[in-house]
Amino acid sequence: MKKTLLVTLALISSVSFAQKNESLAKTPPMGWNSWNTFQTNISEELVRGVVDAFVKDGLKDAGYNYIVLDDGWMAMERDAKGDLVPDPKKFPNGLKSLSDYIHSKGLKFGIYNCAGDKTCGGYPGSRGHEYQDALMYASWGVDYLKYDWCNTDNINAEVAYTTMSKAITATSRPMVFSLCEWGGTSPWTWAEKIGHLWRTTGDIYPCFDCEVSHGTWSSWGVMRIVNMREGIRKYAGPGHWNDPDMMEVGNGMSFAEDRAHFALWCMMAAPLIMGNDVRKVSKITLSILTNKDVVAIDQDSMGVQGFRVSRKDSMEVWAKPLANKEWALCFLNTSKKVQNLNFNWLANPIVDSLFDYSLNMTGTIYSVKDLYQNVYLTTTKKPLQAVIGAHDVLMVRLRKSKD
Ligand code: GLA
Repeated sequence: MKKTLLVTLALISSVSFAQKNESLAKTPPMGWNSWNTFQTNISEELVRGVVDAFVKDGLKDAGYNYIVLDDGWMAMERDAKGDLVPDPKKFPNGLKSLSDYIHSKGLKFGIYNCAGDKTCGGYPGSRGHEYQDALMYASWGVDYLKYDWCNTDNINAEVAYTTMSKAITATSRPMVFSLCEWGGTSPWTWAEKIGHLWRTTGDIYPCFDCEVSHGTWSSWGVMRIVNMREGIRKYAGPGHWNDPDMMEVGNGMSFAEDRAHFALWCMMAAPLIMGNDVRKVSKITLSILTNKDVVAIDQDSMGVQGFRVSRKDSMEVWAKPLANKEWALCFLNTSKKVQNLNFNWLANPIVDSLFDYSLNMTGTIYSVKDLYQNVYLTTTKKPLQAVIGAHDVLMVRLRKSKD
């Protein structure tokens, strides 16, 4: 009798301590999300077009695999059983058949909901329906849940997100859990055990360095987001990532700005979730998003978030230690004027004191490869010289060289 009681207690405690699926998101998730371009104007036709573009334009080959429907996929009311219903006009064949189509192309299906009573767009939220909704997602073959933070009154964020995480775990279907709490309660300090990525700021806006006010809240340009949360890189690593928001590459900034934005997201080991209309992507935008050398910096197996080494006269130097003692460096010109770079390796030691890596220049020579131009520039025997345009970057990879 006693033994049965102990076994039961052990079972209950193991269930109540069930955590997220640890095998997912070992490198930052890559994919596409509907919000930045389409807001709630989404449909089955759009998603099928996105799936086809993933395959046709090499996005799938470059590593993008999650296709995430953001806010606006639901009908305004739950049904009589309290279940969520896909909007019958936008998704006339429901979501299971769409999910099957996504899976048939070797891609994964993501969906959105919110910890509040209603989503930010006013659709039914998951509060009080967490387990019911998670089971529904599992039945549709969902692989990724983005979980927002509107209309949450004064509920406790850690508790609310933990409840949803447990609801996902209880379905036994592996799902990446993406927290979208905007950074208000520092989710990086509590979310590692329950989620795979957490938004660090409010919403992004397609500008290099602006704030756009919407009255009670603002959206933020690329550099505002980059500068908003310094000091949180220690919380990122394989399986749990700081998320500076979906990308705006291809959404109206200059080519240089798009390239800088993408480079910074990769240096920060950010999730690479595209936010443009990939069905109508230009060749030049595609060349940024599918640059395998740049993507490889983001996806490096060591999973260390890069950091800003220095900032002088509008020239920033970023570094990211990589596996096999390699490094990525990114020189960013934040000014509106062209700048000359003359970087002396010995005079500028690169040390990651947080994770205890340093770029050893005594006795080691590295080759320096320009990742956007796809050319070897020089070795670290000589200073690195370059001309960097306004709001542009030079992004390089350092590998041990034989000479
Ligand atoms: C919030 C999120 C966005 C998006 C919208 C949808 O603003 O931060 O990323 O999901 O809600 O309404």
